[in-house]
Amino acid sequence: MSKSKKKSVPKQNETLDLSMAEKILDSYEGMDGSLIPVLQKIQYEYGYLQEPLINLVAERLNISASEIIGVATFYAQFHLQPRGVHIVKICCGTACHVKGATKIVDEFSKKLDVKVGSTTEDKLFTLEEVACLGACSLAPIVTIDEDVHGNLVPDNVDNIIQGTRQQGRAK
Ligand code: FES
Repeated sequence: MSKSKKKSVPKQNETLDLSMAEKILDSYEGMDGSLIPVLQKIQYEYGYLQEPLINLVAERLNISASEIIGVATFYAQFHLQPRGVHIVKICCGTACHVKGATKIVDEFSKKLDVKVGSTTEDKLFTLEEVACLGACSLAPIVTIDEDVHGNLVPDNVDNIIQGTRQQGRAK
């Protein structure tokens, strides 16, 4: 495949150690269909898909960087920007919407001072909206990392945020 011009990616971190990514790529050497597992493993190791990593994968798999970015933006599991220590996922499926998810989104956004899809300045929280989490009887529902918070009302939000801060748990 030819190398076409690439889309914009996060600013390059010139000090990034690529040795782990090289090892991952070595382990998939010559294997067909390796792009997704390679990206998964690299993201697991580095947190998100930074420009030097994308360029390395492009070079090693002989795929254009723009194709890799296309794949990374298609699948919700991949991230081109750094994410917070804690990932707040607010369900905006039908049941949660009917039970006031919009107010929950607004409250988290206000208390964390961050828009949906973004990460707080202290890099502690990333706020995301997601489709049905499969627990509609608990609507409206929010997950923070592995913790599930159901039957939420906006007044609960501050306590949940404070509780998560106090846990000080890294992903
Ligand atoms: S709609 Fe929110 S859990 Fe199903």
